[in-house]
Amino acid sequence: MLALSDDTYHALAALMYSAIGLSFNDSKKALVSSRLALRIQRLGLDSFEDYLALIAGDEDAGEFQMAVDLLTTNETYFFREPAHYELLERELKAERPRSLSVWSAASSFGDEAYSTAMLLSDLQQQGTIGNAWSVLGTDISDRVLRSACAAVYPHDRLRNVTPQRMKRHCLRGEGESEGLVQMHSGLSERVRFGQLNLCQPIEAIGPFDVVFLRNVLIYFDAATKREVVDRVLTQLRPGGLFFIGTAEGRVPCETPLLSLAPGAFRKSVTR
Ligand SMILES: C[S@@+](CC[C@H](N)C(=O)[O-])C[C@H]1O[C@@H](n2cnc3c(N)ncnc32)[C@H](O)[C@@H]1O
Repeated sequence: MLALSDDTYHALAALMYSAIGLSFNDSKKALVSSRLALRIQRLGLDSFEDYLALIAGDEDAGEFQMAVDLLTTNETYFFREPAHYELLERELKAERPRSLSVWSAASSFGDEAYSTAMLLSDLQQQGTIGNAWSVLGTDISDRVLRSACAAVYPHDRLRNVTPQRMKRHCLRGEGESEGLVQMHSGLSERVRFGQLNLCQPIEAIGPFDVVFLRNVLIYFDAATKREVVDRVLTQLRPGGLFFIGTAEGRVPCETPLLSLAPGAFRKSVTR
């Protein structure tokens, strides 16, 4: 059994905090220890200290990414928190924009980005929005981004997708691919993915009309949450829609927002 000393735990926590804003207090020590121990053994290392030296050094960025993946949760699925998509649909039916740019700011495997793309494609088909729309998904993790670019999903993750939408936007795998679903190219050509650390300054990638920042603030402490939310909101146009997870409580930020529904906001037009 590998033992994680308090000093090494605090050094690991400090590294994760400074690099990507992950906040681990003392109550998370057992969780961090159990999530990393197997990986350390698999690498043939003798201790948490060796592993810390490996991920803190410059030589193995891939292993740092692996540690991030082990310490965060990438859980996501299509049309998670459906009330947000219903609200977005109502707003777009009222506004009828000719163009629309959406950012899924912690996209994980891309389920949120593709759910939005399905909705926008259907609204375009109905003539509710114009055809100049696109979705950008970003995440810190290489692994989830590679998977998002492949646009192939286990069928179960599309459990909230209606049969009509499945038929329009997805190809169901057969034979060896049984149980998998591939997004149609008509959808995937509208969706791009890229790596972005929310805890570092963001170059101008907006302005977006809609931003999803859902189920990622849970990783950050109060100060980091505020910084991240305000940073992300610089990329949302005034009047644009902003979504956080409904379980994430009050949105902590300086940027004036109008609350529309749990986890759903409009950025105020005047500052
Ligand atoms: C639980 S998933 C949320 C996925 C999706 N937004 C949803 O609500 O279903 C959280 C994602 O946040 C990403 N993440 C954690 N820290 C991050 C950071 N500092 N910058 C960007 N992404 C981060 C993780 O890699 C993970 O994929």
